[in-house]
Amino acid sequence: MKYLAVLGRQPEISVAELEALFGEVKQITGKLAVFRADKKPEIDRLGGSLKLAELIEVKPLDYLRELAEGKITLGVSDFSRGASKKTATIESLKLKKILVRHGRSVRVVENKDAVISTATSLHNGLSGKNERKVELIKVNDEWYKVIGVQDIDAYTKRDQARPARDAKVGMLPPKLAQILINLCGDLPRSARILDPFCGTGVVLQEAILMGHQAYGTDINERMVEYSEKNLEWLVKSESTLSRAASGQPVATGDRRSSSPCQAPDSLDKSTFQISQGDATTFQWTEPIDAVACEGYLGRPMSAVPVEIKLKTEKQECKAIMVGFLKNLASQIKSGTPVVVAMPAWLREDGSYSRLEILDEITDMGYNVYNKSREGLLYHREGQIVARDLIILRKD
Ligand SMILES: C[S@@+](CC[C@H](N)C(=O)[O-])C[C@H]1O[C@@H](n2cnc3c(N)ncnc32)[C@H](O)[C@@H]1O
Repeated sequence: MKYLAVLGRQPEISVAELEALFGEVKQITGKLAVFRADKKPEIDRLGGSLKLAELIEVKPLDYLRELAEGKITLGVSDFSRGASKKTATIESLKLKKILVRHGRSVRVVENKDAVISTATSLHNGLSGKNERKVELIKVNDEWYKVIGVQDIDAYTKRDQARPARDAKVGMLPPKLAQILINLCGDLPRSARILDPFCGTGVVLQEAILMGHQAYGTDINERMVEYSEKNLEWLVKSESTLSRAASGQPVATGDRRSSSPCQAPDSLDKSTFQISQGDATTFQWTEPIDAVACEGYLGRPMSAVPVEIKLKTEKQECKAIMVGFLKNLASQIKSGTPVVVAMPAWLREDGSYSRLEILDEITDMGYNVYNKSREGLLYHREGQIVARDLIILRKD
């Protein structure tokens, strides 16, 4: 089946996430990518896509006419060349007119633009969960129906409701934690994921919600306590959170299924393990099926650092990241994916100063997957320290 993804704020990262999970992905415009998958992908498991849609093999009118009895709510997003609010409105009204002529009752969601925003789609229930609340996406002569819309509220809920938070270690957005895990590839449910810089436990939390086993370590005793507290809270409130995230009851099923696209079944404390340890020397317990982490990012900064400050920060971060990857290399099996968010600092000219350790990493026995690319830099307006996402695999 052919799927369409409406890409997030940083399309190169969204595409990399889709590629890691589904193989070949074709970015067709700045905001859209298409890919094929055997199983229906789930938006709640993707951090980098705003909407997912499935190709309609028939004409849009024929598709709509086949919908079950009752009132249809219809929205049209037009991503075609030269599309505008007007072209999208003409399409939706044309469809409505013919459907009404055939005796169907239709409400059209008004277009404020050629494309319906994520918030408007969610607000009107056009998230693919109700068969008769439909958002169609037109891309030149192809039509897709939306099967999932990113639920911003669910992310906010599980980010802000966590009992232990610490602004100093930097707040890893849950969406980015999902991306780090997904960049490891299509992991089996039984996979045990290590975060050796677990901090307050956002990666561990998202790993658990995706149905995996989570293993976290951190040098700081306080962070270990925070992660424990947050994960204990998570397993207690998991059913509510999963429903909030997916809008559906928690699925039961085979936890070992290799699908990246199902909500987890019930959780208990055995789904996670947390210990205190220095990532440059610690001996982790087996198995380690994948490593996904946000490494040490240095001190928080509110202004572009002067050269001398940048140099010391870089040296400190580099020593920790190199020490960690060397220590890890001898403890993981060949083929194990390792995805690390490393720091990169904004310069006065708007470019970013990176850690520049890719050659050293290669010498340690890792394959660097995104070496030839521009790099996957995750940053937000006004942020000085960006996250440079590095995708590795042990030789
Ligand atoms: C940027 S924070 C990670 C935040 C985390 N992603 C979260 O969800 O809160 C980096 C973490 O690395 C830890 N750290 C720094 N040096 C370390 C080392 N050598 N070994 C293990 N952890 C270390 C810090 O205590 C901090 O919690």
